[in-house]
Amino acid sequence: MMKYSIDQLIKQADKLPPIPQAAQKALTIIRSPESSASSLARVIEMDQVLTTQVLRWANSAYYGMENRIATVQQAIVVLGLEIIQELIMTYSFSDRLYKPLPGYELQRGELWQHALGTAIGAKLISKQFHLKIDEDAYFAGLLCDVGKLVFEKLLRDADMNSSDSDQYSFLELERTSFGIDHAMLGAEIARRWLLPDNLVTAIACHHEPQSAENYKTLVAAVHVADVSMMILGVGIGIDGLRYPLEDDALKRIGMTWDDMFRLIERIAEELAKAKEMIAIR
Ligand SMILES: [Fe+2]
Repeated sequence: MMKYSIDQLIKQADKLPPIPQAAQKALTIIRSPESSASSLARVIEMDQVLTTQVLRWANSAYYGMENRIATVQQAIVVLGLEIIQELIMTYSFSDRLYKPLPGYELQRGELWQHALGTAIGAKLISKQFHLKIDEDAYFAGLLCDVGKLVFEKLLRDADMNSSDSDQYSFLELERTSFGIDHAMLGAEIARRWLLPDNLVTAIACHHEPQSAENYKTLVAAVHVADVSMMILGVGIGIDGLRYPLEDDALKRIGMTWDDMFRLIERIAEELAKAKEMIAIR
């Protein structure tokens, strides 16, 4: 089997479209300590598509506003900066994540649902256990499998079901076959997108949280949310049942197995609502 260098794969990753400009600017403003509703509104208003989307979200049945929200500024006040940030980020990546990934045997929309559910789950964990990493958990959950977008092309021609492959996790098989796995590649893509270190680390370690040297709580939250989505059976594909849950990740958060099963029920409810709200196809 052919081994690839990170550089070779990154060349392919560079073909991924960049983060939309308006979204990037909006995120920079939200993350800045001097951010205000009016400065964010100005950035959003420069982008017609984003403006339409923000107004649509604010007026959706989900928020049940009595009066119609007519301006971006009103929408920001009503929804709040955090929710706007999540919606913009989710919307910006939806096209990329919505694609089918034949190499992983994922149909159109399956990776997307898995990513959205992992984002929602990681944020629910943060809120329930007062981890104070709500937004980072959401973004890291959303993007943890971004490496699969590039990696899946390699898998199309590979046989990952050889007789002795059962004893390895899918991540180990990726590494043995190609010299790299989708988590390492995803982290490299995130670095190139200039995403912050904590997100890069969470993407790199989302299947092996014990390997994280920093941001251990964030990594653990994303790991547990990712496994929860697999138990829920969304976006499983060829590999989904072949990543073990690290018990230590649950311990780090202070979660029991019962907590995890309750979490899975809540993710299912919230995922259904979010899909309606974001209205991707
Ligand atoms: Fe993954």
